[in-house]
Amino acid sequence: MRLAIFASGSGTNAENLIQQTQKGLAKGDVVLVVSDKRQAPVLKKASELGVETAEVIPSSFEDKQAYETYLIERLNAAKVEFILLAGYMRLIGPVLLQAYEGRIVNIHPSLLPHFPGLDAVRQALEAKAKETGVTIHYVDAGMDTGPVIAQEKIAIELDDDHVSLTKKIQAVEHQLYPHVVNQIVAEKTRGENE
Ligand code: GAR
Repeated sequence: MRLAIFASGSGTNAENLIQQTQKGLAKGDVVLVVSDKRQAPVLKKASELGVETAEVIPSSFEDKQAYETYLIERLNAAKVEFILLAGYMRLIGPVLLQAYEGRIVNIHPSLLPHFPGLDAVRQALEAKAKETGVTIHYVDAGMDTGPVIAQEKIAIELDDDHVSLTKKIQAVEHQLYPHVVNQIVAEKTRGENE
């Protein structure tokens, strides 16, 4: 199954997903990486791994509808069947949601519905939560809402700070995301391989 990854930033999840699928450790082929941020580090990581990239800046378009219509053109050109959000810090609008209905998933660094939105790690620390975690869910029109596919808990120790907790979360994300992608691709392609 042909996959696209959408990411806005450093792209450690994107890099990990590309590597895991290229090595055959997770099913699926990452054929396109899209970033909404100019020169986001994820773009370099993806092209070094031989994956096509698209830097698509929303402010260059008249409105969100035009931006997403262009994204769909790029996705269609690359024959993308499923979209993985990995640190894509933007709501998916109705145009893209409809085109890829039930075929977009997101990863978020908290146990949703707790701490949605920006900097979930800081939110958990400021709330003095005893645990947080990672959630992977189908995407709907809300911010970090939509049916949950998988969650994993992480204990927050008294001496944890933003750096240490981010490290723990990333380690879990890098295990959980390829695992879930592998399951989704296996389920969706089961019929085709029988
Ligand atoms: C990840 O922790 C991901 O869960 C989070 O952004 C980070 C991206 O890291 N996503 C969200 O907060 C979505 N609301 P990465 O660029 O190193 O993969």
